[in-house]
Amino acid sequence: MRGFFASIREDMATVLERDPAAKSRLEVLLCYPGLHALWFHRTHHWLWEHGYLLLARWLSQVARLLTGIEIHPGATLGRRLFIDHGMGVVIGETAVVGDDVTMYQGVTLGGTGKEHGKRHPTILDKVVIGGGAKVLGNITVGTNCRIGAGSVVLRSVPDHSTVVGVPGHIVFRNGERVVITDPKLINDPLSEALSAVATEVKKLSHRLDKLEHPDAEAATSAAYLRHIIDDIDYQI
Ligand SMILES: CC(C)(COP(=O)(O)OP(=O)(O)OC[C@H]1O[C@@H](n2cnc3c(N)ncnc32)[C@H](O)[C@@H]1OP(=O)(O)O)[C@@H](O)C(=O)NCCC(=O)NCCS
Repeated sequence: MRGFFASIREDMATVLERDPAAKSRLEVLLCYPGLHALWFHRTHHWLWEHGYLLLARWLSQVARLLTGIEIHPGATLGRRLFIDHGMGVVIGETAVVGDDVTMYQGVTLGGTGKEHGKRHPTILDKVVIGGGAKVLGNITVGTNCRIGAGSVVLRSVPDHSTVVGVPGHIVFRNGERVVITDPKLINDPLSEALSAVATEVKKLSHRLDKLEHPDAEAATSAAYLRHIIDDIDYQI
């Protein structure tokens, strides 16, 4: 188990590393409610784990009053979590957060209201969750994902993905642009429209190929269209 002061030093170093606005250790110590909430949570989590449930809950509400951040004492948080600004952040009882996660003000790791038991999300390492994003239900957000500000994420997200929108959909995976073409997975009107256009373009491209004497312009445009289609990562 790491020492108390070692973990505080690590938390402060994390803020200095990830927030360009942070100028000194003293400023970090005094002006970052996300850090204070984290330190409160460690005590509350210990009390929760040792059966002092009501005391832990009550103290977590006092911490919310002081920091604007509500972390249920039952939540499991990893190392080097950075909650920037913090006001309005809510982390539910069965949420699990990995190491090196960053989240901004207004983030909710909540339940959908329909589940029991493990009903809050699991956030794996190195995830960044933008301001106001809601991640709901017993889902998993994979390593190194980025969740756009204001998104509402209701399904698990594979590693190395960027998710935006309401409901959240993947726009990048492993650095490649993603267009979802599986009808069961489409929950974004733009992806749906793009998928229909891509199918139509593919058909036209084949017809062009079949023309007996294609002129130079048609050949160029068919090659150009094929280049666009080949560049898209279709998530099927
Ligand atoms: C999601 C995010 C990480 C994506 O960043 P990125 O990888 O640089 O991606 P881009 O900006 O190229 O955006 C990719 C696409 O997603 C869209 N997009 C980006 N962020 C979005 C958001 N929050 N909501 C909806 N759509 C979004 C862009 O418009 C773009 O769409 P387009 O290609 O059709 O024009 C970033 O936009 C974001 O929201 N970061 C959170 C930052 C934050 O909360 N800061 C708080 C500071 S107090």
